[in-house]
Amino acid sequence: MEYKIILIGCGTVGQGLLEILERKAEFLRDCYQFEPKIVAITDLMKGTVVAPEGLQIQKVLGTLKEGKKLNQYPGPKQQTDDYLDPLDLIEQVEADIMAEMTYTDIKTGEPATSYIKKALRMGKHVVTSNKGPAALHYQELKELAHLNRRHFRIEGTVMSGTPVFHLFENGLAGNDLREVKGILNGTTNFILSQMELDGLEYDEALKLAQQLGYAEADPTADVEGFDAVAKVVILANALMGGQLKPADVRRQGISHLRKKDILEAREAGLRYKLIASVKKDGKKIEASVAPQKLPLTDPLAGVMGAQNALTFDTDLMGKVTIQGAGAGRTETGFSILSDLLAISRCALK
Ligand SMILES: NC(=O)c1ccc[n+]([C@@H]2O[C@H](COP(=O)([O-])OP(=O)(O)OC[C@H]3O[C@@H](n4cnc5c(N)ncnc54)[C@H](OP(=O)(O)O)[C@@H]3O)[C@@H](O)[C@H]2O)c1
Repeated sequence: MEYKIILIGCGTVGQGLLEILERKAEFLRDCYQFEPKIVAITDLMKGTVVAPEGLQIQKVLGTLKEGKKLNQYPGPKQQTDDYLDPLDLIEQVEADIMAEMTYTDIKTGEPATSYIKKALRMGKHVVTSNKGPAALHYQELKELAHLNRRHFRIEGTVMSGTPVFHLFENGLAGNDLREVKGILNGTTNFILSQMELDGLEYDEALKLAQQLGYAEADPTADVEGFDAVAKVVILANALMGGQLKPADVRRQGISHLRKKDILEAREAGLRYKLIASVKKDGKKIEASVAPQKLPLTDPLAGVMGAQNALTFDTDLMGKVTIQGAGAGRTETGFSILSDLLAISRCALK
């Protein structure tokens, strides 16, 4: 089945998605009857291209690779301004699905939340990898989607393409969830791993993480736990029906930890991890992000480097742990694809 799709934001994730759609076009059509037609892309710096007949993905990627703006796309296209604001694009271009992959603002969720609301109101399904709208407005957006009989899907917001939401929605369906607990930030897990495995001090491990591109020049969001807070709020609200805000989460980062703390823990057979957890007790839902000393027998203790992992504690299956990438061009591009396929599967039923 053919789906007309618009992309809002075409950076790492958007291009990762395009590369997958190009590489797997035949496979997606033959195995999943999924035929995506990208009808428009708009991006703050790269500009806009609109093509109701569908863009040739290879030509889009070529245009971007050459450092050109999207309106220099060499195939058939509609005449548009250099940059069309996403709100106008959503209104003007007929499409089934909007893939939203712009900048995360964890304080306001904007402007992405406004794009998502507009798309849902205009009858477009929405998939996003953006934590802002999911962490701050999940219940409102889900309700809006429901009212408009559309999907609002967020697989890429937690653990990139590692299928946290798909696992709970499909494989674990029928279970009651008592707790989810995991390592949701790859940067801090890398730093803690380096402090233990290579005996580095915190500052040395952070510097290495920055050199390798795991940590930003300003690492506060990662090392002080804010990024993990946003993700744990998404889990609380999307998996447990909570109404948490980031300020409701008890938070402590890892910047106070020293090599001696890590080594003392190791001597006691324990390992420090920055653990994000949400617990449900009756109607009460509580979340926290803090370093914890885990016994080495805990599956989360074995997760080293920039990997992420999450343990679901369920009534029927007990504990189930999933481990995988928490970021990456292809991995997060895949998260968008997995949500597109979920929408397509529903329509095929
Ligand atoms: N990369 C990952 O591994 C990963 C993993 C999980 C989740 N995510 C989330 O996925 C989203 C996309 O990430 P990314 O890595 O692709 O970021 P990115 O490389 O910075 O790409 C975002 C693109 O969106 C454009 N943009 C920003 N604000 C916009 C707006 N208001 N309207 C239109 N375009 C806009 C940016 O243009 P400019 O260049 O002008 O800013 C940029 O080209 C983010 O919310 C991120 O947090 C990323």
